[in-house]
Amino acid sequence: MNIRIFLFTLILLLKHSVNATGPWGSGVPGSPEMLKLEAKWRPMAFSPAKMRGHQRFNEQKYGMFIHWGLYSQLGGVYKGQKMEEGGTGPRVAEWVMRNKEIPRAEYAKLAESFNPTRFNAQEWVAVAKAAGMKYMVITSKHHDGFALFDSDVSDFNAVDGSPFGRDIIKELEQACQKAEIAFGVYYSHALDWKDGGDSGIKDYGPEKPEKKVFANYFDPAPVKFDDYIKNKALPQVQELVDNYKLCEIWLDTPIYIPARHSFAFYKTIYDADPEILVNQRIGNHFGDFGIPGDNVIPDQINENAWECVATTNNSWGYKSYDDDWKKPIEILYWLVANVSKGGNLLLNVGPDGHGVMPPEAVSNLLKVGEWLKVNGSAIYGTKPWHIDHEGNSALKMGGTEHRKKAKLDFNFGNDDFWFTKKEDKVYAIALARPEGRSILVKSLINEPIHKIRLLGQESFLHWGRTPSGVEVQLPVFVEDGIGYALEVTLAN
Ligand code: GLC
Repeated sequence: MNIRIFLFTLILLLKHSVNATGPWGSGVPGSPEMLKLEAKWRPMAFSPAKMRGHQRFNEQKYGMFIHWGLYSQLGGVYKGQKMEEGGTGPRVAEWVMRNKEIPRAEYAKLAESFNPTRFNAQEWVAVAKAAGMKYMVITSKHHDGFALFDSDVSDFNAVDGSPFGRDIIKELEQACQKAEIAFGVYYSHALDWKDGGDSGIKDYGPEKPEKKVFANYFDPAPVKFDDYIKNKALPQVQELVDNYKLCEIWLDTPIYIPARHSFAFYKTIYDADPEILVNQRIGNHFGDFGIPGDNVIPDQINENAWECVATTNNSWGYKSYDDDWKKPIEILYWLVANVSKGGNLLLNVGPDGHGVMPPEAVSNLLKVGEWLKVNGSAIYGTKPWHIDHEGNSALKMGGTEHRKKAKLDFNFGNDDFWFTKKEDKVYAIALARPEGRSILVKSLINEPIHKIRLLGQESFLHWGRTPSGVEVQLPVFVEDGIGYALEVTLAN
């Protein structure tokens, strides 16, 4: 080969290997580097300890996500301007620094007023518990770079850098432990508007990056991405795994992060505690469980571990003027729609700058908690059955602002059933109550049914087969409530 053509081809190859497509990282699938890292990763990802982590994750099914930080003080309004007024990028309230292009020094002043005296870890954990949630995951550091935990790596944290002076992550970890709620943290490993995390866009993305909207280009920290990872993100994740007992770590916005960095995060976490599960946004497919997207319910059953993340209104961080709350029926729909497809639901609450959870979100969550007290065995520890749903309601959930824009209603029919299974039981979950007493579940038609019971009641129900399914005689519902769940025991 002509030396010039050779060099040209080499440059093209190198360029391609550097500028992979994102958004899950810039490692090139099948490249020698990836193959080498994957070979080291596999024994960790499939180790017995990880499997215990997976088992626990599947038992839990429903958790509380909490977005809380300096931005919570603003509630989505900066200098009189709402997130929707001017600015660039996502309009969720925790993005205020990026959206309003607030210079780093100016944003950092929010730490001086961060004094959420109404924060009470036990109270938050009690809400999660009463809501029927089995785990909690809170933003230990979001894209703005401010940590809610004590850190020797950076003073920009709640203990050293704010009048509050308390380790919020420690208080929550301990309160969770007492209440037997598993505890995990979100940590924005790739994006950090304060200290130079730009998701690898500048150093590892294409020449004309399309994802520019993510990073801080208005007042960038003068650091290379590799240095940010080495000097802040990785050491802070090390602090998190060393100082707190965690069930999961939720990393974020990998976009063009190189594979070696994603791998280093995985190994750091694994070496400290191999049972901790890490989400897919670690980048380069090194995660233990998938994320279908923000506020996305996947269309299909997926037996691999995954977690749907969803908001209770239309923002993750507290937005003072967003009162478009998901009602209990809608929350329940999100729960059953995800669980019947094999996933977990991590549902977000954005407390305000004083440390108070929005009362509407709390009261809606507690109503779902009441439902779960009766019907929880149809949810926790279940696996998907051979179909997830029968009936006419065919809602699609495709993004954080989707439901608001699409003006979806949540009127379900008597023919809508979502299914889950556990051991010898199949559960058929309804979100509506019929006018008459008999209902027809079509998908049970060929099942070897032994007995059927309504969750919350001891006695078994009368049922019979028809040409189109199984007809079940329900009791009269004495109390008000949403839907019901049938426990169908199969003969073995
Ligand atoms: C996105 C957003 C972020 C939010 C997260 C939740 O990555 O950048 O603000 O924390 O999704 O899933």
